[in-house]
Amino acid sequence: MYRLSVDSLKPGMVLGRAIISDNGTVLLNRGVKLTQFYIDQLKKLGYDTVFIEDPDTTDIVVEDDVKEQTRRKAIQHIRALFSVPISEMKGLKKTTVSEIKREIEKGRIKEKLVNSRLTKNIAAMSYQIVDEVLDNKILSGLVSFKRHSDFTFKHCVDVTVLSVAIADKFLYDRSKLTELAKGALLHDIGRLLINKSLYEEPRRLTKEEFELIKTHPTLGYITLKDIADIGIIAAHIVYQHHEQQNGQGYPRGLKGDNTMPLPKKEIKKGYIMPLAEIVYAANVYDALVSPRVYRSAYTPDQAFFIMKRMAGTHINREVLKMMFEIIPAYPLGTTVIISTGRFKNYIGIVSKINEDNLSRPVIRVMFDDRRKRIEPFEIDLSTNQHINISGIIV
Ligand SMILES: [Fe+2]
Repeated sequence: MYRLSVDSLKPGMVLGRAIISDNGTVLLNRGVKLTQFYIDQLKKLGYDTVFIEDPDTTDIVVEDDVKEQTRRKAIQHIRALFSVPISEMKGLKKTTVSEIKREIEKGRIKEKLVNSRLTKNIAAMSYQIVDEVLDNKILSGLVSFKRHSDFTFKHCVDVTVLSVAIADKFLYDRSKLTELAKGALLHDIGRLLINKSLYEEPRRLTKEEFELIKTHPTLGYITLKDIADIGIIAAHIVYQHHEQQNGQGYPRGLKGDNTMPLPKKEIKKGYIMPLAEIVYAANVYDALVSPRVYRSAYTPDQAFFIMKRMAGTHINREVLKMMFEIIPAYPLGTTVIISTGRFKNYIGIVSKINEDNLSRPVIRVMFDDRRKRIEPFEIDLSTNQHINISGIIV
């Protein structure tokens, strides 16, 4: 299978992986033969790429980092929990932070969450995700198929999987990883307390509106901090997930020292907690590789390029280094274009990841420089150092 842009889909093509909707149900199953109707629906819903089965790539099997069922269940549980602040805030004017805070402090949202099935489900889900992600040597690097939207429940799951995988490499134990997963699953809960239109309309926000958005980590924190099933570590991850190394993040302008986010690291006053530094980096990556109304998704290698420029100032340098060691710049099944040498402008599919050289995979060349299908052949980039590639979406 390989990844293909929704714009290039043709009737008769076969889906290589199921498409899960925003509410965690299967929209189209793997193996489904696409019709023009399905293709139009996918476009209308704002999906940008899907996996397609192809006779020349049947041996390329892209596995998800967590089971499909786990992903779906996680999406459903986050959605169920997030529906509490949504319904409680509905109909309220909520124009200022103090009004929103007053609403949270009235306690109705907390009352519904304390000791509820909703928070217990998140705790159980966190445990399960950790269980599945643990000991994955590398990640697939392919996030779930998302729609043009600034906020999706899938985003919460993808950030969680990535955060847990990074923290595992820094040798956090299972109980700390579960705390991390809870915080990552709920990191954006505060956004649902703020007027939705601020996220959904692709328009320039006023300074006041932007200031309001910047309070979402605080709002999330005060909502969650007294809920035992969530715990104070997760609540602090929510509170600190937009803080940056240079102290220019929000809401408190905490700083980072760019050292390894190890479990035993002492947290100095005014500094970001290590687990929040990890969630920050995972959040940036996932945002870049997701499509937006105003831009397409970046490919992972483009995202890495952008993130390298944020290293040290925004993203903890050591966290980023670790990310590069567990996410392939060119994930299995992605399309790449050759940019140097004899096969310049030929197009191929990543057919094998070299685990000790993640940025130099094996590619199966399938199209020539005029995009004509050719008899496939493979190039191992780890032994052909002079050949360069870049990720593309065709
Ligand atoms: Fe956020």
